[in-house]
Amino acid sequence: MELIDELRAEHDLIEQVSRAFLTYADLPAATRTGPDWAAFLRFFRLYVNHFHHAREEDTLFVALADRAGLPADRGPIAVMRADHARMAGLLDGVEAGLAGGDAPDARLREGATAYVHALWHHIDAENSVLFPECEPRLRRNGVLQLPSRPMTADERAAMAAGLALAGRYPASPHADVMRGDGCIMCPAFAVTCRGLELEWWNEWEWDEFEDRMSGG
Ligand SMILES: [Fe+2]
Ligand SMILES: [Fe+2]
Repeated sequence: MELIDELRAEHDLIEQVSRAFLTYADLPAATRTGPDWAAFLRFFRLYVNHFHHAREEDTLFVALADRAGLPADRGPIAVMRADHARMAGLLDGVEAGLAGGDAPDARLREGATAYVHALWHHIDAENSVLFPECEPRLRRNGVLQLPSRPMTADERAAMAAGLALAGRYPASPHADVMRGDGCIMCPAFAVTCRGLELEWWNEWEWDEFEDRMSGG
């Protein structure tokens, strides 16, 4: 499905720029420049929030709820939406820290790190759990394609500036971050989401599972 392929490719790009953002945030304050902070923030606001997250919410999640009959008020859709909102808040925090002028450097660095780590966790969950489940569930309900939209001029400029920053601030390894597939690391697990099987599986998926387990 083209939209999902696009969203996956956008994750790769977002990952690249977010790694550069960490490299940048770790630099000594004197070597960082105001315009680069602004360009990073613009990338996250326009390309990540306004373009990427918005299409997930207004197209993919809406189709999952309205056409595949999946719950929107709990489970994976609710968790992904809440993640988007939480990450937007973390980004606001970074921006507020910058606007403060005399913001202590460590706090800015912490804010940038918290934001990027949340973004990575979210991307891992979508790539490994949500996206692979979308296509078969939509197809079963007769949805073979979902609309996308081209970037606006502002979004495209923010993306290009983000890629330029990724070239200038190469990624450094962050071995302390837990990455990986699945829901195990998800803080929403057992809170707002009981796991994909309990939230999304229908009767015949459970029947099939039970048959398999009993060797039938
Ligand atoms: Fe998302
Ligand atoms: Fe995403």
